[in-house]
Amino acid sequence: MAEKKVTAPGLIRMKRDGQKIVVLTAYDCPTARLMDQAGIDVLLVGDSVGNAMLGYENTLPVTMDEMLHHVRAVARGASPAMVVADMPFLSYQTSRKDAVANAGRFLKEGGAHAVKLEGGARVAETVASLVDMGIPVMGHLGMTPQSINTLGGYVRQGRSEDAAEALLDDARVLAEAGVFSIVLELVMPEAAERVTKAVSVPTIGIGAGPHCDGQVLVVNDMLGMDGDFRPKHARRYMELHSLLTDAFTRYAADVRSGEFPGSHEG
Ligand code: KIV
Repeated sequence: MAEKKVTAPGLIRMKRDGQKIVVLTAYDCPTARLMDQAGIDVLLVGDSVGNAMLGYENTLPVTMDEMLHHVRAVARGASPAMVVADMPFLSYQTSRKDAVANAGRFLKEGGAHAVKLEGGARVAETVASLVDMGIPVMGHLGMTPQSINTLGGYVRQGRSEDAAEALLDDARVLAEAGVFSIVLELVMPEAAERVTKAVSVPTIGIGAGPHCDGQVLVVNDMLGMDGDFRPKHARRYMELHSLLTDAFTRYAADVRSGEFPGSHEG
């Protein structure tokens, strides 16, 4: 029997039932397939693909076409997991018309089930328009990487009482506008807990403590793809960088020595 598809209303039910939601970023089909088989609920094709896979310094240069390429690949590998496409910088901030057209492309051409966009009250009308069109929206508050130049760095948000209050207001406005969940990135755990208790939609934390309704990690960070980049919030489940370096080094040595291919390898 086919497993039950993960859906936006299903995630809200999970919060209500006290079931934790498991999210990972995904950028390609074979990895998406493995995550799906492992029971990951939501595969987020983050614009972190810019730093994680495309060699950019941050997420700002990522284009709609680049995102669509990766969203299609992930969607081919994901079922029953839900696929959420991250709307890249300036694909939704310019006008509501642009936002609807670009978000629509992710569902129509990319096979995504929902989109994510960054910001609070300032994007609420856009969120409401998308939801009105039948496009489920995931919100994103706290340290929002597309605003890196205004925030001045990847720094924890919600430190002061005023900042925590502002975060709470933004979360309430987003929930009111119709988001089905909210990512809280690099948020003080106490502030994240307050938001989680205040809104009926699930919060998905990354560097936001244990009280969120779910957790998300960037897949490269949890696999240890980079030997040097070790964000404090990201638990490493393996050291993929050393496994890969070892495999590449042994292959190079085998080719150079004539040990590969062997007689049984054609
Ligand atoms: O782009 C991304 O991967 C994200 C997650 C870190 C939440 O937005």
